Amino acid sequence: MKKKLKVLMLFYSPYQKPRGYDYKEEFSDPDNMYTEKDVQGALLSLGHEVSLLGIYNDITPLFEEIKENRPDIIFNMMEVFNDQTQLEKNMAAVLEILDIPYTGASSGNMFVCNNKALSKKIFTFHHIKVSHFHSYYRGKRVGLIAKLKLPAVIKPLCEEASRGISQASIVDNPESFVERIKFIHDNMQMDAIAEEYIEGRELYAGVLGYKQVTVLPAREMSFGDLPEGEPRIATYKAKWDDAYRKKWGIKSTIAKLPEGWQENIDDVCRRAYRALDLDSYVRFDIRVTEAGEVYIIEPNANPCIAKIDEVAQAALKAGISYEDLIQKILDLGLMRHDR
Ligand SMILES: Nc1ncnc2c1ncn2[C@@H]1O[C@H](COP(=O)(O)OP(=O)(O)O)[C@@H](O)[C@H]1O
Ligand SMILES: [Mg+2]
Repeated sequence: MKKKLKVLMLFYSPYQKPRGYDYKEEFSDPDNMYTEKDVQGALLSLGHEVSLLGIYNDITPLFEEIKENRPDIIFNMMEVFNDQTQLEKNMAAVLEILDIPYTGASSGNMFVCNNKALSKKIFTFHHIKVSHFHSYYRGKRVGLIAKLKLPAVIKPLCEEASRGISQASIVDNPESFVERIKFIHDNMQMDAIAEEYIEGRELYAGVLGYKQVTVLPAREMSFGDLPEGEPRIATYKAKWDDAYRKKWGIKSTIAKLPEGWQENIDDVCRRAYRALDLDSYVRFDIRVTEAGEVYIIEPNANPCIAKIDEVAQAALKAGISYEDLIQKILDLGLMRHDR
């Protein structure tokens, strides 16, 4: 029998509610807080005591909750604070200062994973394949550098969930290259990264563990009937717009791979996980070329964890139920705090 834990679920909520609010209405909206609902359901069926705390831009309720109703562990689902993705790591850092066990990536892990240039520099040191890239910071000169080959993908340097990524992000001439970087600087108020485009299959690999690391079976986004010539990438629409996905037959499924590919992916992902010194769970977005070369596009610390998401679906395929996955994530959080 597992130990019953007092778990505080901490999540982003655009409508910050008082402590003790039950979020029943919000969780029952299938288009909205379905991840929180799934995690809460799993925690309850595992027999844990669960309390909820949604935070938008005020962390005083967190301090009050910890003082008055200290949990054994926080299930950390904060992805943004005050609508700013880069403050995700600061929330984890606050939990570290409070010396309370919490699930998922540490603030240090988030700092590295959420910066697409920094993680690539570390991967390069460890001989893990990544595309050639160049960072473009706001307020500095923007121009195509000689060592970068087109086509390139232009992305925000530290964003997630394909925000700012559309078909226009793929550029094949110097003018649209500069234009797209300026778009990210001026319209999104973010620094940008330009990466050489990797032609290949779009795969996702969930990895979890500490010391004993498990790479889950790869999932794949297939691009169905997307017209010839359209870049096959996971744009914001391809990820989140159900009508668009249906129209073009874009699907995420367990990948059917040629012999030897899964083993290669396992090897690269395990090395990448160790290179970043991860100890919880992550999802690597990867591309595998026709020749079977595995490129890491990016590491996602605290990836989407609803039942329908890649990590949970891949875990199921590996024989790990959703409840077991959630328990494993709790165990890893407790383990990190205790060592
Ligand atoms: N260098 C690249 N080569 C090919 N496709 C890319 C490259 N970088 C990004 N993409 C495509 O864009 C998608 C989103 O990029 P990613 O770096 O994962 O950003 P996000 O953090 O927003 O998910 C990827 O899943 C992939 O389909
Ligand atoms: Mg991604």
